[in-house]
Amino acid sequence: MTKKKVLLTRIFPKLATQLLEDAGYEVIAWDKEQPMPYGQMIEAAQSCNALFCTLTDKIDSTFLNACSHLDIITQYAVGYDNIDVEQATKLGIPIGYAPNAMTEATADIAFGLMIATARKMFFMNQKIKNGKWGYFDPVGHLGLELKDKTLGILGLGRIGMAMAQRCKGAYNMEILYHNRTANPNAEDQIEAKLVDFDTLISQSDVISVHCALTPSTQGIFNKSVFEKMKPTSLFINTARGGVHNEKDLIDALNNGNIWGAGLDVTNPEPMKPNNPLLTMENVCVLPHIGSATITAREEMAKMAATNIISFYEKGEVPFIVNP
Ligand code: DGY
Repeated sequence: MTKKKVLLTRIFPKLATQLLEDAGYEVIAWDKEQPMPYGQMIEAAQSCNALFCTLTDKIDSTFLNACSHLDIITQYAVGYDNIDVEQATKLGIPIGYAPNAMTEATADIAFGLMIATARKMFFMNQKIKNGKWGYFDPVGHLGLELKDKTLGILGLGRIGMAMAQRCKGAYNMEILYHNRTANPNAEDQIEAKLVDFDTLISQSDVISVHCALTPSTQGIFNKSVFEKMKPTSLFINTARGGVHNEKDLIDALNNGNIWGAGLDVTNPEPMKPNNPLLTMENVCVLPHIGSATITAREEMAKMAATNIISFYEKGEVPFIVNP
């Protein structure tokens, strides 16, 4: 019997290939560091049965129509805003993903960025590298303290909850959140309060973004929202860069509408090295490393590969996106 072929669009953890090959699949893997070009991806997918992709791959309706023969697509990520799920569903292509795996890793980065931004850590470190460490400064380099402050979470799912727990445990922060639905667990465990969006942005000392990028969250943090935030507040985004308007964020920082920003995600990615955010004292930027721990990435590989294997062996996708 001919083997089913799976196209891997990036260099993924070896575990993904190993699991697929051990289960009897042929793996066709892109072997360059940069993402596989769109046209090449369509071409390579023609001879394959399944696609193993990630957030840097544009799986839009043109791609899906050109590759409607695919039995299944599995995403190595929890977010899947790069995939036109509606079109895939119309074409009958199941979309698998990898939730849960990166919850702790991403919450650590959100928590770390919050502290690093409050204390200007990246900027201060850069000063040393630039030979600008003068003497101990009795009045300079002042940051913010987080104890007993208010954390506002946009999107209190698994990662938002893990961030809120860290903030409650470490700093006794009051937790506000804005979601489509209430999260009774969060209300019981950490006394989180569901509030409307305006209350969230105006009452929080730290806003941490954990929602998916959708048409309703695209650019939601814009000029008018930053203007309603506290001038002493921090904006932390570890979800998707498209949730904030970058120009408005830069203006808000320059105008003192907000105090600082910690970003693990930008729009576009990669961020250009001459971006003004990189030279701002109260800004810390990381290159989308929320899930970049050995444990998280192996688990993501396992979940994404299991989606394919289980689809062919049992007719079900354990971690499925399509409604
Ligand atoms: C995700 O899973 O969506 C992260 O952004 C990358 O792991």
